[in-house]
Amino acid sequence: MLQTALQFSHTLLKEVIQEGDSVVDATMGNGNDTAFLAELVGTNGLVYAFDVQKQALVNTEKRLTELGLQEQTILLHQGHETIKETIPEDTQLKAAIFNLGYLPKSDKQIITQPDTTKQALDALIARLKSKGRIILVVYYGHTGGEAELALVHEYSQKLPQEEYSVLTYQFINQRNNPPILFCIEKK
Ligand SMILES: C[S@@+](CC[C@H](N)C(=O)[O-])C[C@H]1O[C@@H](n2cnc3c(N)ncnc32)[C@H](O)[C@@H]1O
Repeated sequence: MLQTALQFSHTLLKEVIQEGDSVVDATMGNGNDTAFLAELVGTNGLVYAFDVQKQALVNTEKRLTELGLQEQTILLHQGHETIKETIPEDTQLKAAIFNLGYLPKSDKQIITQPDTTKQALDALIARLKSKGRIILVVYYGHTGGEAELALVHEYSQKLPQEEYSVLTYQFINQRNNPPILFCIEKK
């Protein structure tokens, strides 16, 4: 069976992340991706995870503690637009993931925004290792979602093909706007 965009995001991450890598979860939420990344990088690696909601950090901290994965994670109660100032410029990142949209079962007014997503992408691209990947899983059914999808599409389509390969993965016959995945890989 074909993988969902979420499942495929993990497949794409698993293919490139190795023990000891530094990686980013740009939208922590309940910590599903943070925990997945923490498993892959191991105790010699580092996961920087960002979210603007305090509850995301509480939920993620709990999950990581239960799984014994807190040692290799830095949970940041700040927006991903602060990546540039937060992650040292000489830190080379192997991967980053975004789940754009709102956190299910929480405040639907707190959504990711095109301008801050762009700021985060600029900072990540500057730190991305060769063969590294940035994955964006874009939910766009909510108000404002289409604008963010357009930004991600335009941003990734404009990246020079000599330096980056960009993939999209999308189901085109499904109801209710299933998320669209983008993968930016540095050559
Ligand atoms: C679709 S959810 C992420 C789900 C998450 N990957 C998980 O495993 O549960 C989007 C998250 O982005 C967060 N968010 C919104 N604006 C943000 C920003 N500027 N920087 C970082 N996170 C942000 C929301 O608070 C929300 O938790």
